[in-house]
Formats: sequence, structure tokens, C-alpha cells
Amino acid sequence: MPLENPQRYTVTAALIYANGPIHIGHLAGCYLPADIYVRYLRGTGRDVAFISGTDEHGVPITIKAKKEGITPQQVVDKYYTQIKTSFEQFGISFDIYSRTSNKVHHETSQQFFTTLYDKGYFDEEVTEQYYDAVANQFLADRYIVGTCPVCANPDAYGDQCERCGTALSPNELIQPHSTLSGSQPVKRQTKNWNLPLDRMQPEIEAYVNSHTEWKTNVFGQCQSWLKEGLRPRAMTRDLDWGIKVPLPDAEGKVLYVWFDAPIGYISMTKEWAEQQGRDWELYWKDDKTKLVHFIGKDNIVFHCIIFPAMLMAEGSLILADNVPANEFMNLEGDKISTSRNWAVWLHEYLEELPGKEDVLRYVLAANAPETKDSEFTWKDFQTRNNSELVGIFGNFVNRAVVLTEKFNNGLVPTVSTPDDDAQLAVDQGLKDELAQYPDRIGQAIEQYRFREALTLLMDVARLGNKYFAETEPWKVVKTDPQRAHTILNHALQVAANLAILCEPFLPFTAQKLHDQLGLTTKLDWTNAGRTDLLTEGHQLAPATLLFAKLDDDFIQIQIDKLNKTKEMNNTENAGATPAETTNGTPEALEEAALKTVASLKDTITYDDFAKLDIRIGTITEAERVPKSDKLLNLRVDDGMGGRQILSGIAKHFTPEELIGKQVTFLANLAPRKMMGHESQGMILMAEDADGALAMLPPSKPVWNGGGVS
Ligand code: 2FM
Ligand code: ZN
Repeated sequence: MPLENPQRYTVTAALIYANGPIHIGHLAGCYLPADIYVRYLRGTGRDVAFISGTDEHGVPITIKAKKEGITPQQVVDKYYTQIKTSFEQFGISFDIYSRTSNKVHHETSQQFFTTLYDKGYFDEEVTEQYYDAVANQFLADRYIVGTCPVCANPDAYGDQCERCGTALSPNELIQPHSTLSGSQPVKRQTKNWNLPLDRMQPEIEAYVNSHTEWKTNVFGQCQSWLKEGLRPRAMTRDLDWGIKVPLPDAEGKVLYVWFDAPIGYISMTKEWAEQQGRDWELYWKDDKTKLVHFIGKDNIVFHCIIFPAMLMAEGSLILADNVPANEFMNLEGDKISTSRNWAVWLHEYLEELPGKEDVLRYVLAANAPETKDSEFTWKDFQTRNNSELVGIFGNFVNRAVVLTEKFNNGLVPTVSTPDDDAQLAVDQGLKDELAQYPDRIGQAIEQYRFREALTLLMDVARLGNKYFAETEPWKVVKTDPQRAHTILNHALQVAANLAILCEPFLPFTAQKLHDQLGLTTKLDWTNAGRTDLLTEGHQLAPATLLFAKLDDDFIQIQIDKLNKTKEMNNTENAGATPAETTNGTPEALEEAALKTVASLKDTITYDDFAKLDIRIGTITEAERVPKSDKLLNLRVDDGMGGRQILSGIAKHFTPEELIGKQVTFLANLAPRKMMGHESQGMILMAEDADGALAMLPPSKPVWNGGGVS
């Protein structure tokens, strides 16, 4: 159940790894919605702590350090500063933007671990873990990659598959390999401390099920993990970069980065409270505090299952009331990618388009991937700027101010009550409609529907334009100046409302609009909806434009920049195999796979398709075909007595690993002889970008002989 009437809010935005700059995908997915939410809450007088910072531990940092030939500390120092500056310049209004390398964070995380340890929560377990004998280290998390057992993504990490979101452990990966040396890892014994998520499942399930109001994508993902059954998860790692495990027998071990990172929300709140002379405990221990985590969809399992489990185990802290995770934003028809430099980087945008922070905020909020992946294009950026910000918002405000300058020397004109019923009705209509917007916008924001809230904001400007179109003060002034003054007063009141209501979305514009209206103190959201915000005779500032049109040449510079990136990627990679075109990281391999998608074959009719008899069967026997290094002879239970299928997969699978596996096969392929054996069908396989093969099992066991349609 969502918390009714909270007394205060703790709002967190994901602690991004300090291993690279911020791009528009991060902003649209997490930071911008969080900022809109928080600015609105502050505007309505709520007590809020808006907490974020950088995640400075874990394998992503050490991988980056290795790649750049610098130390992990140098990596995090560089990116912490860059990320913090970019957020500030973009108007993301964190109360604190800190880092997990701080002393208070190390202490808080170790204390948290000790509390769970003392309560007997951890299961100490000696297990065989993958070890890279070339690099001489255990392969935790992103140091190991393999095929996801759930969705068959060949580039799943040792801690998570980013394609299907499943939390994994290295031992679950199929055909794992080390990202350090590329070698096949060996198993070595090591001790770790597990959080028994399996035993905690009933409590976690009760918690998730009490939040049916969560976004469908978030609630749905949680349900599917719960349905799979939660598994124990190690909270320690054999690594040297991270927070030391505070136990005497834990030499060479650090806390799992996903154990310490979310605790960062707490330690950063402590830091902030200390700076502000406040009590941090109110923000984490009072059940009248509403805790909201803003994240991207790849972080859902950690914020909805694992961190709540840690908090439950700790016992004294509140759980998130909501986790409004967004989906991903694409760029010009392609997935945003760091390694392919396919992104609009915030620090570059701020440098190349100074003063246009709000245009980007507007476009990203208007296209936010709230319910499904969305798309950013520079053409859309231009259209939204020219038609919406300039054409609707800016145009309305400018007309109100310029006409006031012209007809009343820039002084807010006096209002007179019209005698004419039609005029009275049109004015009343404006007032009534305007009065509804603050609540409507506020409700949409409180329900995490930021796109809708932004549309409603623009509707306020549309309302102003409609009022001008209906009343035409520029004509009326010639015959009835008193009426024209009344109209302009009302229009200026709408502009003043816009100055309040746009602040969460367009904070720079809100300030400009205050300046334009000659307001030295900030108007308060609680006054929004009123039509007496500007007093008669109040002096406006000389008219200036809130937004400027962007011409084609301006936009073309950005499009050209992306085209150049595309060309460079193509040139660098021409003639190379997918494996050669990547830097070998899991992310790069996945991207290589995306790039090498074969062109489509000729279209077929449904009748052509219906001729194929595709079925599911189980491999019951498998052996190598003598004198062939490619062929395996498989016995497949097809529900009809079994059949023999020869398959050229011997370089990809051992006979042993195939036995018992369900596969998809073509059942009506004409039999043919291969190396003296008859093959009665064909096993269907998926081919990865690097030529590796993956089987196509059904997502759950089905009966042998079942047809595929
Ligand atoms: O995905 C990431 O960038 C993680 N560093 C997010 C961590 S969020 C929180 F738990 F700190
Ligand atoms: Zn997966």
C-alpha cells in the first residue's frame, strides 16, 4: 500500500558507476524524472532529501582502470567530478551528490554488514568459484561472462543478465569465460557470506505484493523473479577494490558492490544531515517518511528485491514506497552505446548548446521512456523546440508582455468586470480552467506520470493562446482600452502561473520568466491557479524571448556529429570480424552482435511458412560421428518413437552437455545421408555475432513432439 500523507520524503536517484560520463539515456531514465518529482515536492512545501552520488566500487571501475591504464582511484576521481559538474549545470537539484569512497560510507556499510552478521543472517559458504589462472584472480560479477540460462543472452555478466534483468551468479552462466584474459576459468574453493533470499522469500513477496500500485514494468519484473524462486546471494567478493569485509577471517575479500551501493543512499543522507544540522534517522527510520528510488530498468531487481531484503534483515529502516523505474531511451534509431560513442553526452551538450538546458529537459521529459523504450532524434528536438517551446509557450508569454509594453508601458493593467455576458463568460472560463491545472499537474507528478504532467503544463500555455485568440486585445484596444487592459491582466496572470508550474520541468525558464515578470521573490506553487498573482501597476521587465528558434543548420551540426561517429565505427570495423571489432568487454560484444544483423531474406507467404513442421524434442543420446570434427549424431525423443538427427555442432557442444536438453527441430526435412548415417530432420540453432551457436529451447519444458507455430 502506498503511504498516505507522508511527513517527509527521501528521494534517491541511482548511484551511477563513476566510470564514464552521463548521457541523455541516464537523464531520461532516472535523473530528470527524479528532479521533476523533487522540485514539485519542494515547491509544494514538502520536506525532502534528494540523495545521489557515484558508485565507486565494483568490477566496472576496475575494468575501466585497466582499459585506460590508470588506477581505479584515478578513474573515480575523474568521473565523480565530471558527473557532479554536469548534473549541477543541467539543474539536477540534489541535496547532496556524494561518493561511495567516503569514510562515512565505508563505515556505514561495514556496520550494516556487521549487524546482519551478528543477527546470524549470513550463511557462510565454501564453494567452488571460477578463477582465472592467467590473471590470478577469482572472477566475480563483470569479470566473467557467459550465456544467460534464462534468456540465452550470450553476454550475460556474472552478477546479472542485462537483457532479461535476471540476477545471476557466475556458476549459473553457460559456457563462461573470463573478461580479463578471455580464458576458460577453472574452479577454486573460496569462502563467502550469503544472504538467504530463498528463506526470506515470504517476507519479500509480502512486501512486493503490498505494492500493486507500482508501475507495470516494475511490478511485473518482480513477480517473475518471485515466481522463479529467489536464491541465496553472496554479499562478499574475492577482489581487492572495494570495502573490506569487516571480519577477521576475510582477508582479500570486499563487500559485493550491490551490497554497499544502495547503503550509499543512507550514508549520503547521513552526510547531508550532518551538513544541515538535521537528524538523518528521520529520513530512514520514521514510517511517515516516503522513500522513493528513481532508477533505470536494469536496476530493478536490486532495488525491489535485494536491497529491501537487506533492509528487512537490518530491521530498523524503512522500505521503498515506490521504485518508478523507466525503460531505456534510444538515439536516432539505435541503442545508446558507450563503447560505440553512440550517445548525446551531457557535458558535450552543455558546452555546445549553452543556455539550452531546458530545451533538453523538455525534450527528454516529453519522450521519457515511462512505459516502453523511447527515442531521441535531433529532428524531434528541433520540432519540439520550434513548435512547442517557441510556438506555444514562448509565443504566449511574449505576446502578453509585448502587448502590455505597448498598451500600458509594461505595467500590469487594471482589471474591470465586463458588462458583456460573453466577455464575462470567457474570463470566467479561463479562470475556472486555470484553477484546475496545479492539482492535475501535481497529481500526475505524484503518480510518476511525468509526460502527462508536461503535456498539462503546455496546456496552460495553450489555454493562454486560446484566450488571446478569443479576446483579441490588439483589436479591442482600439475601441475599448479598458477591456483590453483586463484581458492583458488575465493573460499576465496565466504567465505568472506558468512561472510556477514550469519550475519542476524547466527551472531555468521559470527563473527567466520570474525575471521577465519583474518578480524578485519566487512565486509559490501553493498560490498557483490564482489570477491575482501580479498586482495592478506592477512593472514588468523589458520583453525578451524565453526560447529561440533552432534552424536546420544548427541541428545539422549535431546530426553530422553522429554521422561521423557512425562512419568512424564503420571504417574502424570494416573487414574485421565481430570479435575483432570489440574491445572484448561484454557490452562491446553485445553491441557487435547488434551491428552484424544479416539483411532480411525475401518475403514469404504464410503458406510457405506453414509448410515447415517445426517441433520440440528432447535429446536422449548424443555421440560424435567418427572421422568428422563437425558432426554429432543425436537421438531425439520426438514423441513419436524417436528419430536420429545429425547436426554440425560438434565444435560448439560436447555430446554430454546435450543429453536431456530440449531443442527445436525441423521435423519434415527430407531425410539425407551424412557420413553414412541418415539424418531425419534438423536441429535449429541461433548463431551469435562471433559464430558461436546457441540452442533454442522452449522457455519452459513442453511435451516432446509439440509443434511450434
Ligand atoms: O547501474 C549502476 O550504475 C549502478 N552503479 C547503480 C547503483 S544504484 C544504487 F544501488 F546505488
Ligand atoms: Zn537473460
